[in-house]
Amino acid sequence: MAIYLDTSNIEEIKKYTKMGIISGVTTNPTILLKEGVKGGMGGLKEAMQKVLQLVAPLPVSLEVTTNDPQGMITQAKELATWGKNVVVKITVHGPKGELDNMAVIHELETKHNIRVNVTAMMSAQQCFVAALAGASYVSILSGRVNNMGYNSVEEIKKLRHLLDRFQLKAKIIAASTREVLNVVEWLSAGADIVTVTPNFIEGMIVHPYTKETVQMFLNDAAKAGH
Ligand code: G3P
Repeated sequence: MAIYLDTSNIEEIKKYTKMGIISGVTTNPTILLKEGVKGGMGGLKEAMQKVLQLVAPLPVSLEVTTNDPQGMITQAKELATWGKNVVVKITVHGPKGELDNMAVIHELETKHNIRVNVTAMMSAQQCFVAALAGASYVSILSGRVNNMGYNSVEEIKKLRHLLDRFQLKAKIIAASTREVLNVVEWLSAGADIVTVTPNFIEGMIVHPYTKETVQMFLNDAAKAGH
């Protein structure tokens, strides 16, 4: 468990699953809209079934599309029937700071045996509270944290310390990746997982000096007639 792919693009998921690099997939309504997944829950189900089957048993996070407390529970139960590897994403609170989400997270984890990935979090303290509520995963949108002028590495370090000290099961997902260097930086700070869009993995692998070195080997092999 280290790198998740933040996409619903089936070709990209196939590509990196084949390499054995990724340990899960995350999505959100914005990603799905960008990739043309429309048609309500029916359209979402059709698109996500392929992803769920392709990566199973690796976890796939799917986000609820309502902020009504009962609606979130009903949707979460429906999403969970789509595959054993479904993890339901719930935002830490509503768009106006509504607190109902925390009870929803607790109920899903403790009464319905549904794994929850709490998302849209910007600080260690938000993630800590979500972990206390019983979340399996806490997502800190670390790129957005940096964009607001706070240091995401420090938030991840503080969170790692708190989860360990209070023996909370939540896994830390660092999300909202902005630079290739974020992956190693956030994992080193204590994140369990960094979720990335596919271009970042290519960025981690390909190096100009490696290209030059490989070309040198090939040229010399050719000169030697091998
Ligand atoms: O899962 C949350 C993540 O995808 C958000 O990323 O780039 O919209 O900040 P971004």
